[in-house]
Amino acid sequence: MVLDDSKLAYYPAPVPNGSGIGVLVIPGGGYQMVSLDWEGVQTTTYLNDKGFDAWVLNYSVADTAPTPLYPVPMDEALDAVRQIRAQKKELTKLGIWGYSAGGHLAAMTVTNPEAELDFGILAYPVITMDPMYTHLGSRGNLIGDDASPELQDKTSAEKTVTESTPPIFLFHTANDASVPVENALLFSNAMSAHKRPFQSLILPDGEHGLALGLGDPKLDWTAELERWMQYSI
Ligand SMILES: *[C@@H]1O[C@H](CO)[C@@H](O)[C@H](O)[C@H]1NC(C)=O
Ligand SMILES: *[C@@H]1O[C@H](CO)[C@@H](O)[C@H](O)[C@H]1NC(C)=O
Repeated sequence: MVLDDSKLAYYPAPVPNGSGIGVLVIPGGGYQMVSLDWEGVQTTTYLNDKGFDAWVLNYSVADTAPTPLYPVPMDEALDAVRQIRAQKKELTKLGIWGYSAGGHLAAMTVTNPEAELDFGILAYPVITMDPMYTHLGSRGNLIGDDASPELQDKTSAEKTVTESTPPIFLFHTANDASVPVENALLFSNAMSAHKRPFQSLILPDGEHGLALGLGDPKLDWTAELERWMQYSI
């Protein structure tokens, strides 16, 4: 499948950092909508300022496609990765950066060995489809309220980590009222169980959907992210 500009938008770095790093950005929105104007714009602007090329995926969600959505968003993300690699041969490293439900899509993609991604950034991600800790709206849109246990397992990203999952940075707040912090903890535990490298930043207090928290002394998490990018990818 070839994704056109309405599905995959390209934001080249005006002044490239020179390292050949590119990032596919996947905004959140509960698999209901895609937060292009908030998480999308903030992240591409940030990446471009750092000299990294960015792409944003406008994936299928309940507002624009029939539900349950699975596996359409996963196929679109994998297609986007392939398309970016085919179009931008000089990329040395391609990462994926997702927020919330987009974090779920990013986690599913980065743990898929077929994607061959080089790193992942998961911001307040939905990880599990287990009703105990999931975001129920995202779960309903993606797999349906009465999904089989098999489908639930297949779409729970804490169960899709493998020995080849690349380095991951996770960010969450401990009192996130929409997507419980257990999601980031479950994924961290899975990375640890598979002896894969990760950094997990849990801040004690902050609302779900805060994006980068840029300029907020209490919430801005980009300093930790930058250290990780410099030394861990
Ligand atoms: C995102 O995709 C939807 C559904 O295909 C489309 O209606 C919308 O215009 C797209 N948004 C952008 C910014 O291209
Ligand atoms: C480009 O980015 C990478 C990753 O953050 C960093 O290690 C490197 O120092 C940067 N290069 C320059 C010239 O700033």
